[in-house]
Amino acid sequence: MRLFVTGGAGYIGSHAVLEFLRAGHEVVSFDNYCNSSPESLRRAAELAGRKAEAVEGDLRDRAALMEALRRGRFDAVVHFAGLKAVGESVRQPLLYVENNVVGSANLLVAMREAGCRKLVFSSSCTVYGLPLRNPVDESHPRSALNPYGRTKLMIEDMCFDLAAAEAGWNIALLRYFNPVGAHESGRIGEDPAGIPTNLMPFVMQTAVGRHPHVEVFGSDYATPDGTGVRDYIHVVDLARAHLAAVENLALFAGAEPVNLGTGRGYSVLEVIRAASQAAGKDIPYRLAVRREGDAPEVWGDPALALRKLGWKAQRGLAEMAADHWRWQKQNPGGFPRP
Ligand code: NAD
Ligand code: WQD
Repeated sequence: MRLFVTGGAGYIGSHAVLEFLRAGHEVVSFDNYCNSSPESLRRAAELAGRKAEAVEGDLRDRAALMEALRRGRFDAVVHFAGLKAVGESVRQPLLYVENNVVGSANLLVAMREAGCRKLVFSSSCTVYGLPLRNPVDESHPRSALNPYGRTKLMIEDMCFDLAAAEAGWNIALLRYFNPVGAHESGRIGEDPAGIPTNLMPFVMQTAVGRHPHVEVFGSDYATPDGTGVRDYIHVVDLARAHLAAVENLALFAGAEPVNLGTGRGYSVLEVIRAASQAAGKDIPYRLAVRREGDAPEVWGDPALALRKLGWKAQRGLAEMAADHWRWQKQNPGGFPRP
C-alpha cells in the first residue's frame, strides 16, 4: 500500500513507520518536527533497510497537504500528528483547536479532494473521561477532562459526522491507553521536549539522574497498593496494531472506534519497581498528593481489537521497562535536534 503518515517522526509514528516499511508498504511522512526530529525517520530507515519519504509540512497549511496528497495517490492515511500536552492545552486552548482540530479538518478535506477516504486516527482513552467502570469498552460514554481531550472528542465527532454524511469512508478511531517502551534496538523511542509529565519517561529520566526523585501522585486511592492504575501498552505492540488497522480498513464501515490496550492495569509503584529492575538500581520516589483530574484506575477492554483486527498486545511490563530503559540509556539527551 501507499501510506501517507502525518506525524511520522514522532514517538508512536516512527515506530509505526518502521512496521509499515518492514511489511513492504510505501510510506510518505508529513511532519513539521515541532515535537520530533527527522533523525527518528533516518533511524527507522536504518532498522527497516528501506526508507520513508520525509515531507516537512504543517497540518495547518491546507494547500501543502493537498499538494502532498494529490501528488502521492495514497491508499490510506495514518494520522498521528497533533499536540498532546494536557497542561499546555489548558494554558493555550486555541493552539490545540487550531493544530489538532483545524489541522484534522484540513486533512479530511484534502483527502476527499485527492479521492482517498481511508483513515486511521490516533484517538485516546482520554475520551472516556473519568471511567465509570473498568475495563472500559468502546461503548463507554465519552467526555473530556481538559482541552486536549476535547480536541480528540471533536475530531472523533467530525469523523462520525463525515462518515454518516458521505458514503465510502473507512475510518478507524484507535483509542490508545498509555503507550510506553521503545523499539528493542534502543535506536528510536520517546523524546519528550522539556520535563515530561507522563510517568514512564519521568521515571527513566530519574534513573539517569535528571531528577532527584519521582513524585507518586496519590497513595490513598482504593487500588491494591493505593497508587494510580493504568493500562500501559508497549509502543511496538501499538505500532503493529496500526499495521493491522491499515491493512483491514475495509472492515470499518464509516467511522468506528477500537481500544488499543493490554486489558490489564499496573500501579505507579509497580511501574517504578519494573523500571528499577530494568535499570539495575533503586529509583528514588516520594509519596505525594493526588494530581488534579486523575482517575484512580483506568484499563481497557481489548476484545474488539482482537475480534476486528486479530491483534493482541504481546509485551508485558518488564519488557516495556527494559526497552524504555535501553533507549533512555543509549540516548540520554534524546535525538539530536536540527
Ligand atoms: P509526538 O509528539 O511524539 O508525535 C506527534 C508528531 O506530530 C510529532 O512528530 C510532531 O512534530 C507532529 N506534529 C504536531 N503538530 C503538527 C502539525 N501541525 N503539522 C505537522 N506535524 C505536526 O506524540 P506521540 O506520542 O507520537 O502521539 C501521536 C498521536 O497519538 C497524537 O495525536 C497523540 O495525541 C496520540 N496519543 C498519544 C498518547 C501518548 O501518551 N503518547 C496517548 C494517546 C493518544
Ligand atoms: C500515569 C499514572 C499518575 C507522573 C496521560 C494523558 C492521556 C493519555 C495518556 C494522550 C497516573 C501517575 C504520573 C508522575 C505519578 N495521553 N504519575 N507521577 O495521566 O494516565 O494519561 O497520558 O492521549 O490523555 O492524560 O498518564 O503517565 O501522566 O500518569 O505518580 O510524575 O502515573 O497520577 O496514575 P495518564 P501519566
